[in-house]
Amino acid sequence: MKSFLFVTDLDNTLVGESGPLTILNEKLKQHREEYGTKIVYATGRSLRLYQELYSKNPLLEPDALVASVGTEIYFKNSNNIVDRGWADKLSHKWDKDTILAITKANFPKLEMQKESEQGPYKVSFFLKEDAAQKVLPQLESLLQEKGFDINLIYSAGADLDILPRRGNKGLAVRHLRSLWKIDATQTVVCGDSGNDISLFCQEEERGIIVGNATSELQQWDRENPANYHYLAQAPCAGGILEGLKHFGFIE
Ligand code: GLC
Ligand code: MG
Repeated sequence: MKSFLFVTDLDNTLVGESGPLTILNEKLKQHREEYGTKIVYATGRSLRLYQELYSKNPLLEPDALVASVGTEIYFKNSNNIVDRGWADKLSHKWDKDTILAITKANFPKLEMQKESEQGPYKVSFFLKEDAAQKVLPQLESLLQEKGFDINLIYSAGADLDILPRRGNKGLAVRHLRSLWKIDATQTVVCGDSGNDISLFCQEEERGIIVGNATSELQQWDRENPANYHYLAQAPCAGGILEGLKHFGFIE
């Protein structure tokens, strides 16, 4: 056994099945103590909603938190200091107020998510699946025509995030890997929905797609098969345990 970088989404990936979560926590805690394995949570939630989840669930404290769909990085033991170096990389061709104004003016029916989920580099709406097929390509080309370098992320048939091109979970984890000098092959990433896709398409990070993955992630996986991705049978933490054993990271 040796150290690895464990990266996981929270909602419906790490969090969702309490029995297996207890077992997984125990194994990861031991691995961190014995080998120096690092734990990173990569969530769509803002820091505030993350703290709410953390207070209600038995979660280990992570070494770093990637929040707001990869647009913010926080480090453990630093009093929630945000990694400014990362945030500064996101400002290229991004102007939140103008992007918001254009979106609202052209798609007046889009419902905004609550204030805590709007970030300096994240504009988030609710969008129903039947409307998404039309809205997503139209909104994307409109914002690109206006000169913005953006990325639209649609998750769980419900959430639409407008983010800077470089603002995603996968690139945020890559930034951490280079800070900590950890190879992609010693990294495992776990997810269940659309905002996790970027975790699976960087280098050859080992990927675990939990058994309860949403249709957009399943479809992406079918279209982008890779032998270093593992499709688990079990949902949530049970699926993560399955995958960690499959890749030989734990026994
Ligand atoms: C989380 C965030 C939300 C975002 C969603 C998908 O639920 O709170 O703002 O839209 O993840 O990325
Ligand atoms: Mg999730």
